[in-house]
Amino acid sequence: MATRKSTVHLPTGYRLISCDSVGSTNDEAKRLALAGEESGAVLWAREQTAGRGRRGRPWVSPPGNLYCSLLLKADWPPFRASQLSFVTALGVCEAIDRLVDRPRARCKWPNDVLMQGRKLAGVLLESASEQSGQVDWLVLGLGVNIVSHPELPDGDTATDIKTETGVELGAQELLEAFVGCFDDRRRDWEAAGFGPIREAWLERAEGLGEMVRVTIDDEEVDGRFDDLAETGELVLVLANGERRRLSAGDVRYLRAA
Ligand code: BTN
Repeated sequence: MATRKSTVHLPTGYRLISCDSVGSTNDEAKRLALAGEESGAVLWAREQTAGRGRRGRPWVSPPGNLYCSLLLKADWPPFRASQLSFVTALGVCEAIDRLVDRPRARCKWPNDVLMQGRKLAGVLLESASEQSGQVDWLVLGLGVNIVSHPELPDGDTATDIKTETGVELGAQELLEAFVGCFDDRRRDWEAAGFGPIREAWLERAEGLGEMVRVTIDDEEVDGRFDDLAETGELVLVLANGERRRLSAGDVRYLRAA
């Protein structure tokens, strides 16, 4: 990754590695992790040519939006490490709210950020574990639509900050705000565990109490979105009253058009 000099203000403990164009900042972060890079590297690219989303989907990445990946290393058990994707989603919401008045950014399970019900940002967490089972390294990839957004398949809709607010943020200012908010929340999480993160996430959750459809591979589960479990699982109440916890899947809100 060819680096480029610019003054970007990050909290203590984070180091910027930036460039104009790269395949995927997550791939670069993983490569650096394997090459011995220390915890706290922040990879930022102005565009990606092979950006990736969850479930192997492409993440269209033209210039103007934010594409970054944080590399973290610590001895976390996998269930703790996966909580960091909620810390990331919350950090993005809080950074956006810090920079634009309204509408408020909201969380969609597992790790999307919405504005006015449309997808604004996504998080891709990738990690590797040691033989002991503890996480060796973890990469938190974040894409935020600032000035443009793609058409999404399957009737989902995306949006961007400029469309929703009229404000044209710079990727750098959003990156700085995000890493600052992420770090604040990460400190809360290290000190007090997942509880405060879960509460703040639920307070911002889109569609809490509403009917949703969750697609898990070929299975569809309909239920009322009731809670976020301490494990990060989505808790649904099904038509027969059964409470069902889901650890993966794509959520669709079953709202009348
Ligand atoms: C999702 O599917 O919602 C997650 C999208 C994550 C995209 C970001 S952009 C920066 C980083 N590099 C990638 O290739 N993907 C993540």
